[in-house]
Amino acid sequence: MEAVKALEIGQVLRYKNLPFKLLPEEIELLTPDRIDPKVRNISFNAEGLLKGVVGDRVIQQNAKRLIQRFRELSVELIRTSFPKYVDSLKVAPTSFRPNLVETRIQSWRADDRRLHVDAFPSRPNYGERILRVFINLNPAGVSRVWRVGEPFEEIVQRFKSDISPYSPLKAKILNSLGITKSYRSEYDHMMLNLHDLMKADTSYQASSAQKQVEFLPGEVWVCFSDQTAHAAMSGQFMMEQTLHLPASAQYNPDMSPLGVLEKVMGRRLT
Ligand code: SIN
Ligand code: FE
Repeated sequence: MEAVKALEIGQVLRYKNLPFKLLPEEIELLTPDRIDPKVRNISFNAEGLLKGVVGDRVIQQNAKRLIQRFRELSVELIRTSFPKYVDSLKVAPTSFRPNLVETRIQSWRADDRRLHVDAFPSRPNYGERILRVFINLNPAGVSRVWRVGEPFEEIVQRFKSDISPYSPLKAKILNSLGITKSYRSEYDHMMLNLHDLMKADTSYQASSAQKQVEFLPGEVWVCFSDQTAHAAMSGQFMMEQTLHLPASAQYNPDMSPLGVLEKVMGRRLT
């Protein structure tokens, strides 16, 4: 199948031979000691501001250069692979995740070892796509292991009757209080419900259609994480670049979560 078709139906694309080698001074960054215990991930925002690294100026510079190099690779990979996206892509934050996946303790809602589609409570996106590029940087040969779940439309069919009623008044209040960065649309409400309903349902977690995928050190993978059901089961040292894309810039916008949800509900959701 053509790569773009596979991506837009929610598959994970894998790249095993991309030119990305760690420099000697970057290998020293591969320790959880470099992450500020107060943050979940080291982050590098679209404006180039680095947050969450513990260490002197040289360490900060090396971390910034490593993340910047990965950002350049990610953007070039997407531009080269999907020419139709080029004019509409927006660079969003990059994260560096040096913590061991297996031992993180967190609430069920924050637990990315449960299958989910990405949806963020404070950041409504009105159906704009969340395209993510990942790399496994593990220096000790350890794979990053994911589970990948069923197609998006099946998730919607499975959970649609459990989605709570949308309240425009509640959305306005959340926005007034600054809990959301902009007004939460019905689309965003439904996506958050799907994220939570999937994670909360232990029998869905155990028995829905899914497969395990192992990403080797050095491997790069790409998916629309708002569409592809995914769960990170084990591994350590990963970087992730987020890109935003209007669904209208896709080859087939009908396959987007907004396209699927509006078809299933029979009305506009933004
Ligand atoms: C996630 O995006 O849910 C986690 C991905 C990972 O940590 O590999
Ligand atoms: Fe996720």
